[in-house]
Amino acid sequence: MSDRVPAAIAVVSAAAILVYACATAPTSNPNAPVRPVTLPAPIPGGAQGGPGGPRAPLTDSARRVRDSVTAARRDSGAAMVLRSIAGRETQPAESVFKNIKIFKGIPAGRLVNIMNLGFGRSLGVSCGFCHVIDKWDLDDKEEKTTARLMFAMVQTINKDYISKVPNDRGEQPVVNCFTCHRGNPRPIGPDGQPQRVRAPAGE
Ligand code: HEC
Ligand code: HEC
Repeated sequence: MSDRVPAAIAVVSAAAILVYACATAPTSNPNAPVRPVTLPAPIPGGAQGGPGGPRAPLTDSARRVRDSVTAARRDSGAAMVLRSIAGRETQPAESVFKNIKIFKGIPAGRLVNIMNLGFGRSLGVSCGFCHVIDKWDLDDKEEKTTARLMFAMVQTINKDYISKVPNDRGEQPVVNCFTCHRGNPRPIGPDGQPQRVRAPAGE
């Protein structure tokens, strides 16, 4: 496959992601008033913990508390960026931001909402999972570069496979980040843990 995705496909696939982000984004108006900037402290053992081994599963109520704190941190990060680009929200992301590879042509304000409600919420993480806060353009965190890979994967899944699934309601089914991650940084299996293939015992 060529290493440059044809523009039309990129737009269609990006649109699929945007449909998700926008359909679920009550705050997607980039001109909406912004909230204060203070970021609450990360929760120990929460989604901010980053890569690591198995963790004890959270109770439902602990998970709800963690998710609402994480969502508040994301909203603050998004508000901070939106304030810094005030007046330029509708310009293409690559003309407003410094290091845009996958979201070329997307309005800058919408990129911020994708970060919050597409990437962040799907993985149950805040901005700091993929970024050093305020150094948004750097590619210094592996999670950020993995997210670009994942985006390319999702485009291919939708373009080459899901688009061929017969559907009779005139709707186009799509895979997005939430399909697999469902609010977890690493998709989990029936045992509540990230899934691994291991060599059989004795090998
Ligand atoms: C799952 C990883 C992930 C999360 C979580 C995430 N981002 Fe990003 N972010 C990325 C990737 C990947 C890019 C690069 C996009 C591209 O190449 O077009 C990016 C790019 C950006 C940029 C453009 C920077 C520049 O100058 O090039 C900003 C601003 C940004 N993110 C803000 C945020 C904010 C605010 C949050 C939290 C609400 C957030 N991000 C959450 C992965 C993430
Ligand atoms: C088809 C299922 C699937 C989809 C769709 C998917 N992912 Fe993933 N993702 C995975 C799997 C599997 C891993 C590896 C998890 C592990 O290490 O246990 C992963 C890992 C990641 C990681 C690294 C997490 C870590 O702890 O290091 C990031 C970041 C990520 N995905 C972001 C995304 C983003 C952003 C999207 C949407 C553009 C996305 N993923 C869509 C299956 C998926």
